[in-house]
Amino acid sequence: DSLGGKMALLQRKWLGHATETYTLEDAPYAAIAGGNDFNRITAENSMKWETIEPAPGVFDFTLSDALVAWAEAHDQAVRGHTLVWHSQLPNWINNPAVPWTAETLKPVLENHVRTVVRHFKGKIDMWDVVNEMFNEDGTYRDTLFQRLFGTDYVKWALTWAHEEDPDALLFINDYNFEYRGAKVDSAALFFKSLIDEKYPLGAVGAQAHLIVGQVSEAGITAGLKHFTDLGLLLYLTEVDIRYEIGRGNDIADYTPSQVAQQAKDYYSLTKACLALQNCIGLTLWQYTDKYSWIPGVWDGTGAALPWDVRLNKKPAYTAMYEAIVGE
Ligand code: G3I
Repeated sequence: DSLGGKMALLQRKWLGHATETYTLEDAPYAAIAGGNDFNRITAENSMKWETIEPAPGVFDFTLSDALVAWAEAHDQAVRGHTLVWHSQLPNWINNPAVPWTAETLKPVLENHVRTVVRHFKGKIDMWDVVNEMFNEDGTYRDTLFQRLFGTDYVKWALTWAHEEDPDALLFINDYNFEYRGAKVDSAALFFKSLIDEKYPLGAVGAQAHLIVGQVSEAGITAGLKHFTDLGLLLYLTEVDIRYEIGRGNDIADYTPSQVAQQAKDYYSLTKACLALQNCIGLTLWQYTDKYSWIPGVWDGTGAALPWDVRLNKKPAYTAMYEAIVGE
């Protein structure tokens, strides 16, 4: 039995993993990635603007097409990540010869969103249309797009994506969307305004980059419910649960109680999604510590995924499994 199989069977939910063509070159890794534990992937990097449109109007789908083909061959669906984000933009957007104006940037944004969604129409059924547009205090993040367009760019991007593929489920995705607070509260207000104005927002992506010992099922349920009460679907899009003060990236260096706490936290998070009808899935941000982004960014910590650096299942895996089969 397996995570994804059970998840799909029992709950019609998605169990995904972020991956890349360059990590899939690792055969033992690929065997697990393509096995029965998962029914969906996200491209960890290769659908971001810097990769997919490296020069103005020049689209390069080499890596992303290969990844989509791999997913199809392994009977896994694909989440698209991400159309509009302030990070991982190409240099020609970040440092233009002549500064962008609303008039010059709008057609560029439109062409990007439309071309990418059109290319993957029928192959990608969920898109992170806008990523990380909020600050922690609930204000809008100061980005190139927000500066030139206000929040109109969000409405346009949703509309363009929907016109290109009316069947795709369109998301706004962010971190720290799991618990009630200024960010969640103001995001929900904004989402309500989009819904009231009939923009095609279908779902919220809560990234769920969480910390061991700080995962509360009740707290997460309350946070997610604030979005699903609007009628939106919800997806835990980039799950990992790292140690706040770490002992590196190898779970073997952690104490039994630390390992048990992480397993408990994976159980709680999985339960929170299973308990909410509108929570349609959970994706691990790479399934293994071997390829996690965490150690590279959060110095000294890591060991955040259910599979360890040797590709062995951790108690966190068993905990997720028990959460799912216990339903
Ligand atoms: O491809 C280059 C390679 O040519 C170069 O030699 C190498 C040297 O640093 O860098 C490689 O690019 C790296 C890229 O990942 C691919 O490995 C970038 O430096 C590195 O910054 C980039 O990090 C990614 C990060 O997004 C960038 O913001 C992570 O892999 C990816 O996991 C992470 O994912 C984000 C989500 O998209 C949004 N939410 C947060 C999440 C974690 O930061």
